[in-house]
Amino acid sequence: TDLALIRNFSIIAHIDHGKSTLADRLIQRTGGLSDREMSAQVLDNMDIEKERGITIKAQTVRLNYTAKDGQTYALNLMDTPGHVDFAYEVSRSLAACEGALLVVDAAQGVEAQTLANVYQSIEHDHEIVPVINKIDLPAAEPEKVRAEIEDIIGIDASEAVMASAKSGIGIDEVLEAIVTKIPPPKGERDKPLTAMLVDSWYDPYLGVVILVRVIDGVIRKGLQVKFMQGGTEHLIDRVGAFTPKRIDLPELGPGEIGFITAQIKEVEQAKVGDTVTTVKGGATQALPGYKEVQPVVFCGLFPVDAADFDKLRESIGRLRLNDASFSFEMESSAALGFGFRCGFLGLLHLEIIQERLSREYDLDLITTAPSVVYRLAMTDGTIKELHNPADMPDPVKIAEMEEPWIKATIYTPDEYLGSILKLCQDRRGIQIDLTYIGGRAQVTYELPLNEVVFDFYDRLKSISRGYASFDYEQIGLREGDLVMMNILVNNEPVDALSMIVHRSQAEARGRGLVERLKELIPRHMFKVPIQAAIGAKVIARETISAMRKDVTAKCYGGDISRKKKLLDKQKEGKKRMREYGNVSIPQEAFIAALRMG
Ligand code: GTP
Repeated sequence: TDLALIRNFSIIAHIDHGKSTLADRLIQRTGGLSDREMSAQVLDNMDIEKERGITIKAQTVRLNYTAKDGQTYALNLMDTPGHVDFAYEVSRSLAACEGALLVVDAAQGVEAQTLANVYQSIEHDHEIVPVINKIDLPAAEPEKVRAEIEDIIGIDASEAVMASAKSGIGIDEVLEAIVTKIPPPKGERDKPLTAMLVDSWYDPYLGVVILVRVIDGVIRKGLQVKFMQGGTEHLIDRVGAFTPKRIDLPELGPGEIGFITAQIKEVEQAKVGDTVTTVKGGATQALPGYKEVQPVVFCGLFPVDAADFDKLRESIGRLRLNDASFSFEMESSAALGFGFRCGFLGLLHLEIIQERLSREYDLDLITTAPSVVYRLAMTDGTIKELHNPADMPDPVKIAEMEEPWIKATIYTPDEYLGSILKLCQDRRGIQIDLTYIGGRAQVTYELPLNEVVFDFYDRLKSISRGYASFDYEQIGLREGDLVMMNILVNNEPVDALSMIVHRSQAEARGRGLVERLKELIPRHMFKVPIQAAIGAKVIARETISAMRKDVTAKCYGGDISRKKKLLDKQKEGKKRMREYGNVSIPQEAFIAALRMG
């Protein structure tokens, strides 16, 4: 394809501002799919994505559009994941484009997460085309939003397209703006092949499918290529694009975005950001910006029913086929039996995997407290990385302990600011900046990630009634006065509830946990003490008093079927219990105890 007839763009939008609806309209208008095929939203093709309205895997579609100038253009629409946990994937997708549509809800205005993506897009020298969407809404204030885009983002919005993706208004204008405003890609056909690996996923029929953006040169079937960062070589057996239906193509030239397959079995071999070149006469320099992604949040996943362990292993393995950024290894817990220690890019990533396991694979799981990665400098001079509180060495052997910190930007209507500042302060936050934009406050805090992985999002959303948005980046490790807190039930430590906390927070958190457990653990025939302890020192304690009578006692001589029902109920309850020595802890207790306020 002639470079002048190619446009590569992505859509930047805050969640719910209408990205998928607009993408669907563009696909529909350019004739990529029939109406029936359009009935399902195309780009958000996973159930969970649809329900939560979050795009997880980037998908790219090629639209053939005949513009007003009479020329037919290939418009490559690159979908980007919409969440901070996937910031690196987003950066690679943006690097593959020359421009972006900035979709802003005419009734909501600009949001913090949009800002982060817009700034990234500007850093990639993108031409940004503002689209003010949902102008059909009675609450729409397009002129106010236009001014907001200019004031807050600092780009010209005088020619912003006014659209309603839902009612199909402004769709042709969006397509024309893509062609006339976004520059065509640059690249040379005669140079050695360099193509950026933008995304990869597992397809049961094709194996690993790799999305590439060709910078220079040509990629075609039969070519022997190598991945410069991964160091592996592969024979290309298929080249094509999605329209959004998969089509095969003879080749992909400079500036083009499309897919390749090469009989690769594991996504791990096709790392996002890698450079694809030819084995013979290939490029000598890899593309800039490659990064190896590392999980930052870890937790244990255990089957409620020990018999489900094999099913869990198989299911985790399948999920991993499609997601190389999530890691797992077998773990055994005295309390929970066999399970897996899993690593995630962030909390949302954790939730998505957890949800998919329970929904798609029908698994009942216990999740242990999420933990970040601590760096321990030991007294013998060695350095340890701690992924699991259970592996915490004897504190006397630790010289110094460091924890990861983040810089968080929160964007909120003024009225919730007070409670948000208090939340950040309670979580050991350090305020860096506070500015007002329009009627909204933008506040920047440095926070220990450890304080955010508990329930920061939930709290933020609830105190702001869903209005605050949150964005973060990692800013490295800092020393912290951290201690390991154990929970003892009937004097037995429950390893699944062990956690690493800051000394200043230990008592409050310990108290909260034991109080909650007291409510959640049923009475036994004997007294059950529940304690939170640091080493041998008990910092909080509650006692569950003993049960007075057998539950069935009152049925003696009474209705036999009622007694049977009661026993059945007990049996049912037992199944969902975990035995600790001689104490039963219901599964809900773990989950509830870990959701602390
Ligand atoms: P993510 O995939 O989470 O990024 O969300 P999104 O930006 O793709 O939003 P989506 O397209 O799913 O739209 C969110 C909601 O807004 C849906 O209920 C749409 O029907 C609705 N919506 C999208 N465009 C318009 C519009 O122009 N007008 C109105 N009234 N509603 C719209």
